[in-house]
Amino acid sequence: MTPNLIRCGSVIFRMTRYTSNHNLRALLQSPRRTSLFVRSFTGDKIPEDDYFKLELCSEEDNQDNHDYKDLVHRMHLFPSIGNQVVIVQPFVKWGPKKNELTTPDLMLEEAKGLIDSLPNWKCIDAVKIPVESLEKKNVFGSGQFESLQKKIGKNPNISAVFVNVNLLRGIQRKELTTAFRVPVYDRYSIVLQIFKERAKTREAKLQVAFAEIPYLRSCLVGLQKGTKSDGRGYGTLVGDGESYYESKLHLLERRELKIKKELEKMHKKRSLLKYERKKREFPVVAIVGYTNSGKTTLIKSLTGDSNIQPRNALFATLDVTVHGFKLPCNLTVLLIDTVGFISNIPLNLIAAFKATLNDAIDADMIIHLQDASHPDKRNQIATVNDTLKQLNIDAAKIILQVENKIDSIKTENPPSSCLRISAKHGTGLDELVERIQSKLLDVTSRKLLRFMVPNGGTEYSWLHKEATVVNYSHPKDPQYLILDVLVTPAIFGKLRSNYPNIRMLNK
Ligand code: GTP
Repeated sequence: MTPNLIRCGSVIFRMTRYTSNHNLRALLQSPRRTSLFVRSFTGDKIPEDDYFKLELCSEEDNQDNHDYKDLVHRMHLFPSIGNQVVIVQPFVKWGPKKNELTTPDLMLEEAKGLIDSLPNWKCIDAVKIPVESLEKKNVFGSGQFESLQKKIGKNPNISAVFVNVNLLRGIQRKELTTAFRVPVYDRYSIVLQIFKERAKTREAKLQVAFAEIPYLRSCLVGLQKGTKSDGRGYGTLVGDGESYYESKLHLLERRELKIKKELEKMHKKRSLLKYERKKREFPVVAIVGYTNSGKTTLIKSLTGDSNIQPRNALFATLDVTVHGFKLPCNLTVLLIDTVGFISNIPLNLIAAFKATLNDAIDADMIIHLQDASHPDKRNQIATVNDTLKQLNIDAAKIILQVENKIDSIKTENPPSSCLRISAKHGTGLDELVERIQSKLLDVTSRKLLRFMVPNGGTEYSWLHKEATVVNYSHPKDPQYLILDVLVTPAIFGKLRSNYPNIRMLNK
């Protein structure tokens, strides 16, 4: 067997750059060898000529993983078989708590979209219920509660209830679950499950896992005085004298700490990348917007990148991606596609993506893309503005409001000052690019300067490398070239010190 192959039972693992050769060898040869577990590897069989990832973890870690999975299962998160769901839409009919920006029907419509986003989940019934407030222990008034209980009890096909509110308190979830005898979900848990489905990169997966912990914690609070299915109380002592509740809280704490550490490592790497970008002075444009507003489509249309595949799905993009794009002035800018926002979810679910959203926060310019054809447009815009505010996005930052999907507008919208485009059909994109260009040059203090430089001289190659040459022309004297160049104040300083005698034709 070649030195980089390891036999574990009947399986042979090939070590890869993911696995430290030295560490693995030391561990396998150590007396603790039996306490090693293979946690995950990509691919279900050994690939012929490709490598796959092998991770090792200690027995303690393995026990925590097992207990965590068990907890997620008990809390009915992520059932693999899917669900037949009844959606319940409580809404405050009057008073200061009434949401004036949307309607119960629109909220219900979005809730259906969320359920449809989950594989094997189906909405089989939906009901709107007026309530005085959302604070009651069982959310609804007693009459409504009983008729809802009867309705759910009568239909054996219903396997779950989705109460379309931000986040149910632990005690509310427990009350409703006990009464309906099926798992009860809120927006946090549904969006969390969609995020889990969509997360592709390690960072996105870790961020979702991080967002899951406060949710499980709130479920545990609700169960604190409850009873487990095996008949023992959740407060029953287990293990080292810890109650079930306390032991699970500690488990969540350990997991939270571990994920946080891993995320911090990734974020360090991310800031290094950002530093590199800054050093090269690429201006950054972040595109934010409500989920499904067309952000990915816009980036695809601007960059012409055929590898980008927009989908008609909520939260299609979870990983913040960066795409290079050349403005007409030849300046390369970076376009950042961000996770879509959604109304009525606790901010910590979006905030789990804060590190990746930091790219948007630090961008030179933000485009807020709106779906102008959506009936719930007002509510969506307010949600995005509110989320940006809560994420501490500098109000002074250039935010360009852009209305998308104008090709699908059925009724004439009132006149608006926003730029109106169709990312899908390319309408209005030239004007959008013009606006991006002029705002970016302004905000990044770039100036368009004209230089006369010796043809074939080092000034020419220096400017090409360090700045953005927009245009060049030949003066009468063929020994020279006239260059129109975009420079930042920093580059201009360097140019002056490297070439103090360079001839500038405009000031
Ligand atoms: P998330 O990743 O969920 O945040 O979505 P997104 O904002 O990136 O939206 P995406 O680009 O994935 O587009 C969502 C859907 O809207 C897709 O079906 C697109 O084809 C459609 N779409 C985007 N732009 C337009 C447009 O200008 N007109 C019309 N009619 N549809 C559009």
